[in-house]
Amino acid sequence: MRCHICLEDIKISKFPEYHDRCIKKLFGSIRVSPHLDFDKKDFMTRIAMENSKRMSISGVQQKLSMRLDGDRLVPTDVNGTYILKPTPYEFPEASENEHASMLMGAIAGIETPPLGLVLLKDGEKAYIIRRFDKNENARVHCEDMTQLLGLNRDAGGEYKYLHSYEEVGKAILKHTNGNKGCVMDFIRRLIFNFLINNGDYHLKNISLQLVSPSREPVFDKMTPNYDALDTRIYFPDEYVFALDFLAGNSFTSEYEALGFFSRVDFLELGKRLGINDKAVDALISNFISKKEKMISVLQKSYMSDKISSKYHANLSSRFKALEVVG
Ligand SMILES: Nc1ncnc2c1ncn2[C@@H]1O[C@H](COP(=O)(O)OP(=O)(O)OP(=O)(O)O)[C@@H](O)[C@H]1O
Ligand SMILES: [Mg+2]
Ligand SMILES: [Zn+2]
Repeated sequence: MRCHICLEDIKISKFPEYHDRCIKKLFGSIRVSPHLDFDKKDFMTRIAMENSKRMSISGVQQKLSMRLDGDRLVPTDVNGTYILKPTPYEFPEASENEHASMLMGAIAGIETPPLGLVLLKDGEKAYIIRRFDKNENARVHCEDMTQLLGLNRDAGGEYKYLHSYEEVGKAILKHTNGNKGCVMDFIRRLIFNFLINNGDYHLKNISLQLVSPSREPVFDKMTPNYDALDTRIYFPDEYVFALDFLAGNSFTSEYEALGFFSRVDFLELGKRLGINDKAVDALISNFISKKEKMISVLQKSYMSDKISSKYHANLSSRFKALEVVG
């Protein structure tokens, strides 16, 4: 059996599907059960409706705020410390997909909250992630790019797709007082989402975090990673990126010549954000050096062969694009 949190083999443990150490890392105690007492049908009908009314986490996919009640994980509308995202009926294995994707991000050096798959009553696996905007009982201030760019619903339903990655990078510089490390982290996330074929890396999926309140309003860093999965599996014809890559939807001459994004595009983006070629190349090389490990996560993941082989093909073609020398 492979652990439903880290995907490594298990010998002996309290719950056969989990390492004791992984349960402890995710939930703080090995006594917390990863077996929930409701199934997906309950979730979709009753539980989601009861708890979504006052829930502060938004997003398109149905999700549930959870907290620990002693050794039990229970849905809650206040003081949630976990987010549960069961697989929607329309996107098969989305939970397993997001689980594997987020683990691949961690392998590539992206800060990642504790996360895993828990088991619903009917045996179905559901993705769960610990919230990074709560620390014990205190809130950690986070703002997403729609907030930082001053957009809201008045800007129209599609407001989370307004602005380009170049403009996001500039906004990060502005709100972090010119923190180049933070911009590099953003470019790293963009390369990552490109590689895994996440076509939904929009303004609400990019957020900054204020760790030291005394520095307000200067943000310290990007939040840990969230909402990363291969969306091409479900939308094979969708555009590569959720946002324009460069401001004004302009393209590099390499893009015009090749017809796909490659290393040169990331170098150009870096240049426009004050990051030199060498630094962006180092980010790319790091991903290339992690390629085998990322693929091995896919192979160990809980996705079916059908879905994981699509993922593998998508990932390989993006690595190829990144390896184009130009
Ligand atoms: N681990 C986390 N800790 C704190 N906040 C989080 C975490 N994960 C997600 N969020 C917040 O909750 C929102 C919704 O989560 P997420 O993006 O995973 O859901 P989604 O429904 O897939 O979103 P989308 O609208 O992009 O499809 C995010 O935009 C983010 O603000
Ligand atoms: Mg999201
Ligand atoms: Zn484990």
